Amino acid sequence: MKNISKSYRSHEILQNVSMHISRGEVVGLVGQNGAGKSTLLQIVATAMSANSGELMLNSLSYKDNLKVIRRQIGFVPQEVALWEHMTVRENMLFFAKLSWTKLSEEQCRAICLNMQLHEWDKQVSALSGGMKRKLNIALSLIDDPQLLILDEPTVGIDLKSKTEIVRFLMQQAKEHQKMILYTSHDMEEITTYCDRVYIMGEDSFYYEYLQGKGIFIEKM
Ligand SMILES: Nc1ncnc2c1ncn2[C@@H]1O[C@H](COP(=O)(O)OP(=O)(O)OP(=O)(O)O)[C@@H](O)[C@H]1O
Ligand SMILES: [Mg+2]
Repeated sequence: MKNISKSYRSHEILQNVSMHISRGEVVGLVGQNGAGKSTLLQIVATAMSANSGELMLNSLSYKDNLKVIRRQIGFVPQEVALWEHMTVRENMLFFAKLSWTKLSEEQCRAICLNMQLHEWDKQVSALSGGMKRKLNIALSLIDDPQLLILDEPTVGIDLKSKTEIVRFLMQQAKEHQKMILYTSHDMEEITTYCDRVYIMGEDSFYYEYLQGKGIFIEKM
């Protein structure tokens, strides 16, 4: 990403933001509420367009290769996006049907089990918050994306589920050479699991805190 700028009407949110991510890396994006993290992730995920700047994935420019690039990206938005009246199984099969890689039911189930999501026939409305998050991540994995973008995947969930989710993300990066870009407000988690971190906004608080933890901080 090079020199990305984004305004909502006259309100400038992102100003010449640049970042990079390599295969096998878990990269954290932190910053105070309203700093523009979700805006940035939506732009990387192609869910929103920037006003200016350049984006590339595997040497392909977003501008000319949107269709190909979208197949390589998995996106988990900040708000959980699931069919509440359907079961875990039905959600997985529904999205698998819409996807390019037509996974079998066994393959769909294996993704859930790999994430420690065992409730296959339970209706989503009856799942806990952490389980819903896991299912949302599982959906993003159906097309086996190279770049996984997650907006606060661990917010509001217990330590065990949180650890399972972040360990899973690490495993995806390290064993399958995926690129993981995610946001969290949990600095302990960020410093434990991320290879590098980008800080958004003016806040020197994050900079000093994270520097004290010894994590590699990148300038945007
Ligand atoms: N659709 C929109 N229209 C206008 N302004 C918006 C829109 N979406 C976000 N904003 C504004 O852009 C700024 C950045 O919002 P964004 O959601 O990207 O921040 P964030 O860093 O993800 O915050 P949080 O930590 O609370 O999730 C905020 O000031 C927000 O009010
Ligand atoms: Mg956000």
